Amino acid sequence: MSSRKTVAVVGLGYVGLPLAVSLSNRRKVIGFDVDHARINDLRKGIDHTGEISSQKLGASTLQVTDELADIKEASIYIVAVPTPVDAQNKPDLTALEKASKTVSSVLCKGDIVVFESTVYPGVTENICGKILEENSGLKCGQDFHLGYSPERINPGDKVHTVESITKIVSAQNPHTAEELKDLYGSMNGGNIFIAASIQVAEAAKVIENAQRDINIAFMNEISQIFTKLNLSTFDVLEAASTKWNFLPFTPGLVGGHCIGVDPFYLAECARQINHYPQIILAGRSTNDSMPHHFADQLYQTMTSRFAQPGKLLVLGLTFKENVPDLRNTKVADLIMSLKNKGYQMDVVDPRADPKEAMDFYNIALIKEKDLKNRAYQGIVLAVSHEEFKEFKPTFLKTILDKDGMVFDLKGFWRHTKISEEIPYWTL
Ligand SMILES: NC(=O)c1ccc[n+]([C@@H]2O[C@H](COP(=O)([O-])OP(=O)(O)OC[C@H]3O[C@@H](n4cnc5c(N)ncnc54)[C@H](O)[C@@H]3O)[C@@H](O)[C@H]2O)c1
Repeated sequence: MSSRKTVAVVGLGYVGLPLAVSLSNRRKVIGFDVDHARINDLRKGIDHTGEISSQKLGASTLQVTDELADIKEASIYIVAVPTPVDAQNKPDLTALEKASKTVSSVLCKGDIVVFESTVYPGVTENICGKILEENSGLKCGQDFHLGYSPERINPGDKVHTVESITKIVSAQNPHTAEELKDLYGSMNGGNIFIAASIQVAEAAKVIENAQRDINIAFMNEISQIFTKLNLSTFDVLEAASTKWNFLPFTPGLVGGHCIGVDPFYLAECARQINHYPQIILAGRSTNDSMPHHFADQLYQTMTSRFAQPGKLLVLGLTFKENVPDLRNTKVADLIMSLKNKGYQMDVVDPRADPKEAMDFYNIALIKEKDLKNRAYQGIVLAVSHEEFKEFKPTFLKTILDKDGMVFDLKGFWRHTKISEEIPYWTL
């Protein structure tokens, strides 16, 4: 029965590692990743994503490896590799295809291959299944079976973890679906939903994120309208949210690996069947315009205070609050837009890795302790990390020019003394 089968998790990132650690409490799990540095770190108990503590990693029975031979003994393979978009915003399935090829070389009769990577309907069976079949010489749906189980966890979220959320599973046949229900259910108290098919599960995941993107795009559009009307968007939202069915979304930058990417997967799938998606792509375009919108707002506001663009301090670089994840952060676009307007920038982010900031974006992070007596024209709160709650107006005044002001893109300091004591802009 499945409880004796060894599991291999392929791709030990934000999704794969927490899953592998949790499953390893129930059965033998081997984690495989092509990134040697990642494997070395994990062996030392270091998870740079911040999802799993050293203590938890040390206590787990998870074995990690970058050697393919080590996962040969597995009978269930779970693939959690990145599914980004390319420069034209088209799905880039390279990692998924490579991982499928890797698994195909160790695949045996009776094995199950489950994909967790976010894709559009059809990818698991028509692309990954074919690669697995061609390279292994085994027949898909007969010698081995496919499953798809989308991941819903949210970087940095310690409440909605793999052990606490409803997990969707799907498979090529009811028997495999039951095995997966058993496997994943051992992790979360049986909180499993079996989707009608693999394509249904793929579609469910991609629309969950597209829905969020579209809702945020609506918030961003109304914020652009209210700025022109000289109305506070946050005041409007506070009033509207007293209605029982008003949805609690907020405007802002939409970056990262999921919300800003997955709608393009849905759009590509639509195009392949000759449907040109309007709402989905309009949402993407509105959200992607926000860095430039914020840069324009700042520039216009500052022209009444300073004759020339000068130096700004940007607080936060990661794609969202309280995580170290810099992937696809739109703060980088904001910084670029401000640079193009003539500003110079210092950037502080207590969560981000300075080396990654340099490698990904050519941005040299500075430390908060080095912020002394600098005459910034503006302080831009771009990401609401907990650490920035500690900032006091007295401190900010010491690093601001006498005519300087605070741009709070998140409304984070809205109800604090900072908004009362320093010239303050928010939506
Ligand atoms: N990050 C999230 O919170 C989240 C949430 C839901 C779904 N997802 C989806 O899950 C998938 C994985 O995302 P992630 O955030 O964990 O990515 P990640 O970049 O954090 O981790 C992916 C890992 O896979 C490894 N890898 C890449 N190619 C490989 C290969 N061929 N063989 C073995 N390992 C390989 C990388 O080295 C990396 O360690 C994506 O499809 C993503 O859209 C992510």
